[in-house]
Amino acid sequence: MKLIIDTDPGVDDAMAIFYAAAAPDIELIGLTTIFGNVTTEMATRNALRLVEAAGLEDVPVAQGAQKPLVLPPFPPSADVHGAEGFGDIPAATPKGQPLDEDAADFLIRMAHAHKGELVVCPIGPLTNIAEALQRDPKFADNVKAIVIMGGSLEEGGNITPFAEANIYHDPHAADIVLQAGEKVTLVGLDVTHRILCTPTDFDAMAAQSPELGGMLRDMSHFYIAFYKRMRDFAGCSLHDPAAVIACTDPQHFVRQKVALRVSCDGEDIGATLPDPDSGRAPVQVCMKVDSATVKAQFLKRLALLP
Ligand code: RIB
Ligand code: CA
Repeated sequence: MKLIIDTDPGVDDAMAIFYAAAAPDIELIGLTTIFGNVTTEMATRNALRLVEAAGLEDVPVAQGAQKPLVLPPFPPSADVHGAEGFGDIPAATPKGQPLDEDAADFLIRMAHAHKGELVVCPIGPLTNIAEALQRDPKFADNVKAIVIMGGSLEEGGNITPFAEANIYHDPHAADIVLQAGEKVTLVGLDVTHRILCTPTDFDAMAAQSPELGGMLRDMSHFYIAFYKRMRDFAGCSLHDPAAVIACTDPQHFVRQKVALRVSCDGEDIGATLPDPDSGRAPVQVCMKVDSATVKAQFLKRLALLP
């Protein structure tokens, strides 16, 4: 599967990108970067660090939007992912540079070049995807699927009681993307809150994959400490890896078709809300997951890394 991951790395983004590097059924066409867990510049630096660490120096990185479509810029989620985005691992300067082309133009060009084959997996705010849809009316036709880590139907929110973080960080962009119909799948908190990894899992990962698994284990300490404080859980959800696995293994997820809108103001801003009378095409929302199988597949493939 030809895949572009749109990412705000981010601890669980790093897990998703290393999973993609290890997965034999994924051809990683590129990464596009966005603000959210970090600023867009930090996301680009971190994305370059991740492809270099994974030995994927040839995978291009295209930098994305600096701010949401309408709302003012948000401060990065440093309390969750650390000041530099990788927990308390210090910042490091990558060798490579991003493309001159911006994320939306790269997405449009790749969707055209790989017509009907390209899966786009946004695991951050949806600003770049909305930009691509607005710049190229054929973008939605050209892609094979858009599989988003984001949203929540019955699980409530994680950044507010109503909203999941990726949607909250650009609700206007999300509302545009969620009108793109059944090619859109939402892998939201309804399923990602069921896929949990503990420090023991990360220690085992690091024992089998000292370099990359060790990096994820080191990043996870800060991330799990946040979960312990906020959700009293000694572990973390595999939000972003679940979305990448949903791209290649949809059979592990039970989806329902729902026409959605996104609240763009008020107390529930960023909430993904069923809107059956809106006349919008339904999107596919993951409501159940075989979490044991998804977790085992994630850990098994990460163990193959150096
Ligand atoms: O709500 C979880 C999502 O927000 C994940 O993608 C995480 O990396 C943050 O971007
Ligand atoms: Ca993310």
